[in-house]
Amino acid sequence: MSRIHLQGLTRRFGGVTAVDDIWLDVADGEFLVLLGPSGCGKSTLLRMIAGLLAPTDGRVLLDEADITHLPARERDLAIVFQSYALYPHLSVARNIGFPLRARRWSRDEIQAKVAEVAAVLDLSELVARKPKELSGGQRQRVALARALVRDPGAFLMDEPLSNLDAKLRSSTRAEISGLHRRLGATVVYVTHDQVEAMTMATRIVLLDKGRLEQVGTPEEVYDRPESTFVAGFLGSPPMNLLTAEVVPDGDALRVRAADLDLPLGITADTPPRPVALGVRPEHLRLTTPDAAGIRGVVRTVENLGSEEVAHCVVGDERLCLRGARPLGLHAGDPVHLTAAPENLHLFDPGSGRRLAWQPVPSFSHHPPPLPHPAPSPI
Ligand SMILES: Nc1ncnc2c1ncn2[C@@H]1O[C@H](COP(=O)(O)OP(=O)(O)OP(=O)(O)O)[C@@H](O)[C@H]1O
Ligand SMILES: [Mg+2]
Repeated sequence: MSRIHLQGLTRRFGGVTAVDDIWLDVADGEFLVLLGPSGCGKSTLLRMIAGLLAPTDGRVLLDEADITHLPARERDLAIVFQSYALYPHLSVARNIGFPLRARRWSRDEIQAKVAEVAAVLDLSELVARKPKELSGGQRQRVALARALVRDPGAFLMDEPLSNLDAKLRSSTRAEISGLHRRLGATVVYVTHDQVEAMTMATRIVLLDKGRLEQVGTPEEVYDRPESTFVAGFLGSPPMNLLTAEVVPDGDALRVRAADLDLPLGITADTPPRPVALGVRPEHLRLTTPDAAGIRGVVRTVENLGSEEVAHCVVGDERLCLRGARPLGLHAGDPVHLTAAPENLHLFDPGSGRRLAWQPVPSFSHHPPPLPHPAPSPI
């Protein structure tokens, strides 16, 4: 299998920079997910790796070989798109074997390979059917089988599950993950669905406006978002972000706003500083009115089945709380909330970058250089 290196990859369309100076190494056997909102440049980036679109700047390397200018058909990569693009008049077996006929394999060789790949994807019973006699999920598996049959160096997939209903999506997701584990294949997978990203990826690349915002394991990007963009993109509902100020209280630090007062659980000597306070809906807990915390009013309560989400207002900002049903809250109720210091995230309100807070020894005579923005992760 293969390693892919992107070096300063850039694509402009007229005045629009769709992909902006992306540097990225995809390791052998990695399942790398490109995640971001519509229009952030995911497909453009994948199409440049595939060789379907020429970069304006930068290079693509496959196992150290520069393939930037190699035509798509000469790259050792298989591409699976959202639309299955199967040949309607050919049987499943002939659809799967198509790339091999194009390479002039013998009939026997093709038959053996098709049977092998059909078995891997649980399609053996269906090889005689035409695509119109298959369900959406089965068609997508045939498209995967056709990619697999070539034994490519790596798979490139652009939203391959977005045409499937929720149940099929979930089973095909598990199928692709299982396939990845069994084959140890290198996969670059585009989606705007965070559940797909969190469940399938070995690493997630978050893109915003063509730029790389953060790269990390699903746990890293969820638990330690490097920016308000990442914090506000991941999670359902995403992380709450509130305007606040970090203030010293004795030698401890607290984060405060008109209806908010929470200890940060660290000692430091620093002047007051405006921040964006991040806290996930599932990390908020109900507390008593006399305790320090967040004061708000419930606007609506959504029933998600096993859980509920309470949409609240705090001052003139919105805040969501998520927990096991029933939360015991109703529209119009006052709420008093708290969160553990380790679940509070602080961001610079100007740049949106995460702030790294560290305790400063009390004997220090130097003005503390902290808080400071965390170094960029890439
Ligand atoms: N051929 C093109 N000509 C001009 N602009 C383009 C072209 N292809 C893409 N763009 C622009 O580049 C940006 C990135 O598009 P891209 O298709 O890569 O986004 P995406 O992240 O895949 O979005 P989606 O999730 O909606 O598929 C968008 O602003 C888009 O309008
Ligand atoms: Mg796209």
